[in-house]
Amino acid sequence: MRIGVVGLGYVGLVTAAVLADKGYEVVGVDVDERKVEGLNCGRVPIYEPGLKELLTRSQGRLTFTTDYSRLSDVDVAFIAVSTPTVNGRISLDYVLSASRSLKVLGKDSVIAVKSTVIPGTARKVRELSGREVVSNPEFLKEGSAIRDTTNPDRIVIGGEAQWAMDLVEKVWSFTNSPVIRTTWEEAEMIKYASNSFLAVKISFINEIANLCERLNCDVNVVAKAMGLDPRISPHFLRAGLGYGGSCFPKDTKAFLSFSEDLGEPLRIVGAAIQVNEERPLRAVRMLEEVMGELRDRVVCILGLAFKPNTDDTRESVGLKIASLLKEKGVRVIGYDPMARTESVEQVSTKEECIARAEGVIVATEWEEFKGIEDLLKEKYVVDGRRILDLSKLKRFRAVGYGRMTEGRSP
Ligand code: UDX
Repeated sequence: MRIGVVGLGYVGLVTAAVLADKGYEVVGVDVDERKVEGLNCGRVPIYEPGLKELLTRSQGRLTFTTDYSRLSDVDVAFIAVSTPTVNGRISLDYVLSASRSLKVLGKDSVIAVKSTVIPGTARKVRELSGREVVSNPEFLKEGSAIRDTTNPDRIVIGGEAQWAMDLVEKVWSFTNSPVIRTTWEEAEMIKYASNSFLAVKISFINEIANLCERLNCDVNVVAKAMGLDPRISPHFLRAGLGYGGSCFPKDTKAFLSFSEDLGEPLRIVGAAIQVNEERPLRAVRMLEEVMGELRDRVVCILGLAFKPNTDDTRESVGLKIASLLKEKGVRVIGYDPMARTESVEQVSTKEECIARAEGVIVATEWEEFKGIEDLLKEKYVVDGRRILDLSKLKRFRAVGYGRMTEGRSP
């Protein structure tokens, strides 16, 4: 089978690499000439564990181009272009323009939409391309994208024409994952409902954390016991400074405005967004509580990536905190094992970052930030991700951890 992949971002590139590794002939198309040129010279534009090795291994079965006409003989063309939110609403411009370009496909080819799109989009793609369309959403997580694509929890195949759904199902037949066949709209809904539910779960435990801080309780103890109920499960129940990244913030907002436009507003999703947006300011307030007036003082932010094991800083809580602190006249320095950014002065080791600052905020739970309590002894600390041994710290606040009152104070 020959496969096309349109859009070589996170999802597209990983999909292309995995499918080529499984033996398919894959053509990847992107409008960004520099990216395509780089990929053809072996330069990988993103950091994802195992991706470079996979791309090297599948050389020969995998080509990259800016030329859509190279897709004319593929059996299935995946659309994996980005769907940004503009003023809180999803922009389908890239998906729709890719659909028009896919008129080059043969009549028996199928378009599979992987991009996250609002219900109703697959129908439009069919109108614009004149080809059969299947909605085949992706649930991969950055950091484990290859494993998630090779061995997904479920494969959702939404469509109308059985033969087209059969063909896309065949592409993924190397996985042992359960296949759910649905309509286009159901498949599109599954993706948004799943991401929104996870965002709600995180915001829920973060509000419980707020309450724990007032009550001299530890949210981790509460979450652990809650998670033992299989109906709740322990996953995505880690309190912290909130969710970031390229998906949750964008998808929840797009889903909310979509629901509002239909006159059925998803109030719980709205509340989850609001709770999440308050997290960075809360971190700043916590630091003020231990450190007092922050103006002209030096604060170090540990962790600028939106989560560990990625260099991705999109919607990163660490960077949001940095900009709030700067507005308050604070001198901010940052350290991250992998992420690089222009927006904060970065130093090359955590030791230097901590040594130069009076206050420290842990914004991402990188493994190398565990066990650094000795370095923090003389500092004002906010443990925003609950990775520190609080009994070893003197002046600190931690998410979801009771105030330093009697019996708890270290
Ligand atoms: C997410 C979804 O998991 C994936 O299915 C979807 O396809 C894309 O979006 P990703 O953005 O890579 O994947 O990150 P994920 O690992 O899910 O974490 C999202 C955010 O939630 C991170 O900022 C993380 O720090 C935060 N998070 C996660 C918490 O604050 N608490 C938790 O318990 C779990």
